[in-house]
Amino acid sequence: MKVKGRRTGHCYAGTGRTVKRAWCTGRIVVLCVAACLLMSSCQGVRKEEEKKSIRIGISLYRGDDTFINNIRSIIEEKAKEYERESGIKVTLDIQEAKGSQNTQNNQVERFISLGCDVLCINPVDRMDTSLIIDKAMTAGVPVVFFNRQPVEEDMNRWDKLFYVGVDAKETAVLQGKMVVDLYRKQPEAVDLNGDGVVSYVMLEGESSHQDSLIRTEWSVQTLKDGGVPIEKLTGGIANWERSQASALMEQWLEKYPGRIELVICNNDDMALGAIDAMERAGAEGISVVGIDGTTPGLAAVENGKLMGTVSIDKAQYAGAILAIAAGEASGWESEPELELEEGKYYQCPWQIVVKN
Ligand code: BGC
Repeated sequence: MKVKGRRTGHCYAGTGRTVKRAWCTGRIVVLCVAACLLMSSCQGVRKEEEKKSIRIGISLYRGDDTFINNIRSIIEEKAKEYERESGIKVTLDIQEAKGSQNTQNNQVERFISLGCDVLCINPVDRMDTSLIIDKAMTAGVPVVFFNRQPVEEDMNRWDKLFYVGVDAKETAVLQGKMVVDLYRKQPEAVDLNGDGVVSYVMLEGESSHQDSLIRTEWSVQTLKDGGVPIEKLTGGIANWERSQASALMEQWLEKYPGRIELVICNNDDMALGAIDAMERAGAEGISVVGIDGTTPGLAAVENGKLMGTVSIDKAQYAGAILAIAAGEASGWESEPELELEEGKYYQCPWQIVVKN
């Protein structure tokens, strides 16, 4: 597997709370910095008396989302690593909200009553986080939101609200670039019938998710900017889900026999769903691109089924969530040394992954 165009998140020197150059290189794992800060040999200042244990309440919008599950397991690994390196015991209380904002609100209430020092919330409805924020503010418990970005107005309500995610536009631009590069090198690979136009279909994530609209817009814009002649046959919302994407693709293959040359997907799971449908229909040669770099997504690139993906650095992603949470929970005056845009936003690095 070839990894190219290594990109990192932006460097917001001067805008963050604490900026450490190493973060811009993407080489140092967030956790190491946080753990180091928390060790007595480091020079951070402790606000209160030393904490021997911290409790973190984590609520996931759904438990069956592949990308979120990847992040969840790395958070668990990072918590163990953190315990080993800092000597501080970490209790993670992880709950799944099963797509219900109401359930998630109740989970938040329970976390607070259990005495959680900090909450990590993957909101069900990113437009409806005000209740969570109310409860957290009243109890004085900081919140690290991730993946589904609350609206700015909510994020600005308190300086103990953080967000970890990925720049939707930049990842989409790289997704488009993978296709532009392929078209320039080997136009017949994406213009299968040689008519001078690449006919594509688009699989989109949930319409309320900040990533869907931006990824859809910028992958296509990048193809246009890169001089790839394109024609959209159709598109649809498959809500990030493999099975929904598979059903849509099945219909499209029937409706446009032999005409689909490219499938642009807002995430890897939907790309895998499209590939499932292509395999069932015996459709060959169609290029499929995703975003995420989930475990099955990367395996599909490796075995040649997925043309490429934009892989999010999941170690940094999960590491950032844990580092901010642990930093807040253990009562440091200075936050872990992450670049936090506007003092609250952390954007993770990403890279293109294509098969050799
Ligand atoms: C990821 C998707 C995931 C969704 C969940 C997106 O950023 O790319 O794979 O399903 O977040 O909120």
